[in-house]
Amino acid sequence: MTMSEQISKVTELATSLSGVAKCRQDFPCLAQTISDHPLVYLDSAASSQQPLAVIEKVVDYHSHDHANVHRGVHTLSHRATEAYEGARDLVQTFINAGSRSEVVYTSGTTESINLVAQSFCRPKLAPGDKILITHLEHHSNIVPWQLVCEQTGAELLVAPINEAGEVDIDNLFRQLESGVKMLAIAHVSNALGTIMPLREIIEKAHSLEVPVLVDGAQAVPHISVDVQELDCDFYAFSGHKMFGPTGIGILFGRETLLDAMPPYQGGGDMILEVRFDGTTYNDLPYKFEAGTPNISGAIGLGAAVSYLQTVGMHAISAHEHELLQYMTGQLDQVDGLRLIGTAADKASVQSFLLDDIHPHDLGTILDHQGVAIRTGHHCAMPVMDFYGVPGTARASLALYNNQDDVDRLVAALTTAKEIFR
Ligand code: ALA
Repeated sequence: MTMSEQISKVTELATSLSGVAKCRQDFPCLAQTISDHPLVYLDSAASSQQPLAVIEKVVDYHSHDHANVHRGVHTLSHRATEAYEGARDLVQTFINAGSRSEVVYTSGTTESINLVAQSFCRPKLAPGDKILITHLEHHSNIVPWQLVCEQTGAELLVAPINEAGEVDIDNLFRQLESGVKMLAIAHVSNALGTIMPLREIIEKAHSLEVPVLVDGAQAVPHISVDVQELDCDFYAFSGHKMFGPTGIGILFGRETLLDAMPPYQGGGDMILEVRFDGTTYNDLPYKFEAGTPNISGAIGLGAAVSYLQTVGMHAISAHEHELLQYMTGQLDQVDGLRLIGTAADKASVQSFLLDDIHPHDLGTILDHQGVAIRTGHHCAMPVMDFYGVPGTARASLALYNNQDDVDRLVAALTTAKEIFR
């Protein structure tokens, strides 16, 4: 890159970073007071707020265009279908899927992973086969695999983590080499924020012909995701963690794999022809979308994707990276605070404990000061067991957070310390 190209890149990033800072005003829910304090929302890893663009899109759909999709010849059904399928196209472009057939609507990450466990893995598994996950997975990337292991007699292997909350890659590679049938791994840990070195891991898995499912729920709102570049076989994520509605999510799957898989659920819309002596299934992606779908959720998700694209994933990542470093540095200076999860490569999340204050008590005291964090096991009990704690306090960032939010968090923690002294 020449010097002038570098300067123009830096200028472009600086302009888009100041654009990110302005995004806060797009989120009406953030403009309120809680217990007479302006709200500081640091719980986006649990569920992010929605920008007006998403809220209005959903209201507009319900106000003017609602009807069932793929079923009617009338105008409203056409409009609903167009908006629903248009959102799929937006998602396809956003994650760079090779084709719209590879983009399956689900109710969220959890359903996406259950679909793969039951439809892709279950028919292939025999007693003694192995599935590999890691120690820092969310329950939604543990329990579906435990279920399929119970159903088939397969064994669940767990790749260990170190004190910083990073997966031990050498160990994971050795486990992969022991004859694993499937690897299911988070892109970003919800409890610790660790970013996995996925390219390296997927390359190794594929060299051993092990298919890979990525739980991308905590990655998609924070870092640019390109499923072709990652070369993953499946990628699962949820609308409500990326500024879209709840109850909608995506399963990306490689077309050849999805094509060979049996349907996950039976019902309307997933068929071509139904007879009592046999049924033929619909083409992809509809084969996996039985029943009337979450139409408004999908349309809202499409609006969220457009919003993220307008702000720019590069600028969002840079803004959040800088803010996470600031937050971690500020928290680290609080006397008696223990950081949980200190991986070298992290996104958006910092877990911690303060003195011997129970995380739930801490969360309640912070709430009284208008600061919303999540406390508890974060649906990652094995991570808590690893650190020998019942739970943590967790502050999680999104594009709308700023340094003032972090300063308010730190001030609220100082108040909590005084209360418990
Ligand atoms: N998976 C969500 C979280 O981490 C609920 O908080």
